[in-house]
Amino acid sequence: MENGAARPVIVAIDGPSGTGKSSTSKAVAAQLGLSYLDTGAQYRAITWWMVNNSIDLDDPTAVAAVAAKPEIVSGTDPAEPTITVDGTDVAAPIRTQEVTSKVSAVSAVPEVRARITELQRSLAASAEKGIVVEGRDIGTTVLPDADLKIFLTASPEARAARRSGELKGVDVHATREALIKRDAADSSRKTSPLAKADDAVEVDTTDLTLQQVIECVVTLVEEKRTAK
Ligand code: DC
Repeated sequence: MENGAARPVIVAIDGPSGTGKSSTSKAVAAQLGLSYLDTGAQYRAITWWMVNNSIDLDDPTAVAAVAAKPEIVSGTDPAEPTITVDGTDVAAPIRTQEVTSKVSAVSAVPEVRARITELQRSLAASAEKGIVVEGRDIGTTVLPDADLKIFLTASPEARAARRSGELKGVDVHATREALIKRDAADSSRKTSPLAKADDAVEVDTTDLTLQQVIECVVTLVEEKRTAK
């Protein structure tokens, strides 16, 4: 067990959708007494605001022009992560199919990324005990000096099966195609694409249970803390 005097530890967990990033990151943060930040939720929140305000998402200039407008606030308690836009709780509406299908276009706009990256860095800097930050570009761009970088992977089949399980009643094949399409868009965009940092530890979760992945990451964090 870590004592309260441990130095803050910054953990970056990246990878495509359906690899268990959110469940793992939340559980690791809770177990180690760290804060937790879901950066995908922030990109979903700004996308939700753009949809609600009828911004033309096919026009990156229009998206860039309003990127600074919504106030996005993330609560970083892993037991109860929250997300609001201009004071409205958007935890549920950011998970709709409409937002999911549009978030890649919005998050590819450099002005959106600059805005959200700034929020992420400021939350990480103010986390007293440290933080687990999950996303796509955390180890490469947002927090390149993180103490530990993890890159989670899993086969497309395993990822689609997990996502379909989360979204009850959704067809696995359709989910697999949608995941592959979104990952391709997120990996090929010009500004900070989904990528594994050179110094990240890659964990293939295809044949692991969630509990095994959590244990693996907790062990890696504890090793880093001991070495600090
Ligand atoms: O993790 P998620 O599925 O909720 O993420 C939603 C989208 O946000 C994802 O398709 C890509 C984008 N995203 C990003 O570009 N950079 C991040 N650090 C996190 C998410």
